[in-house]
Amino acid sequence: MHWVCTESDLRNHLGQWRSAGNTIALVPTMGNLHFGHLALVDAAKARADRIVVSIFVNPLQFGPGEDYARYPRTLQADREKLVNCGVDMLFSPPVEAMYPLGTEAATHIEVPGLSDILCGASRPGHFKGVATVVGKLFNLVQPHLAVFGEKDYQQLLVIRKMVMDLNFPVEIIGVPIIRETDGLALSSRNQYLSPQERKIAPHLYQSLCDTRSAIERGEQDYPRLARQQKAKLRQLGFDPDYFAILRAHDLTKPLAGERPLVILAAAKLGQTRLIDNLILS
Ligand code: PAJ
Repeated sequence: MHWVCTESDLRNHLGQWRSAGNTIALVPTMGNLHFGHLALVDAAKARADRIVVSIFVNPLQFGPGEDYARYPRTLQADREKLVNCGVDMLFSPPVEAMYPLGTEAATHIEVPGLSDILCGASRPGHFKGVATVVGKLFNLVQPHLAVFGEKDYQQLLVIRKMVMDLNFPVEIIGVPIIRETDGLALSSRNQYLSPQERKIAPHLYQSLCDTRSAIERGEQDYPRLARQQKAKLRQLGFDPDYFAILRAHDLTKPLAGERPLVILAAAKLGQTRLIDNLILS
């Protein structure tokens, strides 16, 4: 596996692969890799000849007071995992190379509408940071396709819209959520949980499943369902941010009986912000 940190090294290898007629897939990550990330690599390998994984903890997508400084950085262990998975290239640029004049002075990409609701409402500027760094990575790597997890469902839709609106010639592949056996969605942030919080955490997924069952039984008052689930999460010790039942393709309000739907939830457990979702097709 090639490990490159500069734009010139990156373009050098990519140029050779392109000349050889290889298709290139990009898997953007912030590192601290787990089986959720590796599922994206597998999906990429099934569709492309060459796999590039980027590891970059992007300061532009963290708000003030969020976990940018303490976000787990485990580059050596990540590198070994990627070698074992048969990845062709790891791209891990330093912050100064991505934002030479600092994050504020950099040109930004804003995806209106979708970026302002749910996680975007509680984390102002978050999706501007995500869209900007993903746009930069697309221009650097120029992949034929890029793979993202449905774990960050809103992020996936923001990126699909950015690609459509700005005519990026990149196919976007979404991969279903990988979970622990007790249902908790794998996340680099799960390691912030105390043993007690870790026991409670799977209830977030359980509340999504309960909501799906209620909808399948014919319940159509979605705001009431969401209110009930938020109250239940509060009783269990979560501090819920949102619980929403929306149209899966654009996160707008659904009509009764409409499909596909997505049930999305975000809640804090102690200091840790957890997100999860479930698609109902
Ligand atoms: P990160 O949180 O490292 O996630 C990288 C990719 O892994 C994302 O597409 C995310 O949805 C996916 N992923 C994380 N946990 C998953 C799980 N349990 N199952 C399936 N996929 C999972 O998301 C980001 O980084 C950043 O915002 C990024 C897109 C890299 C831009 O900085």
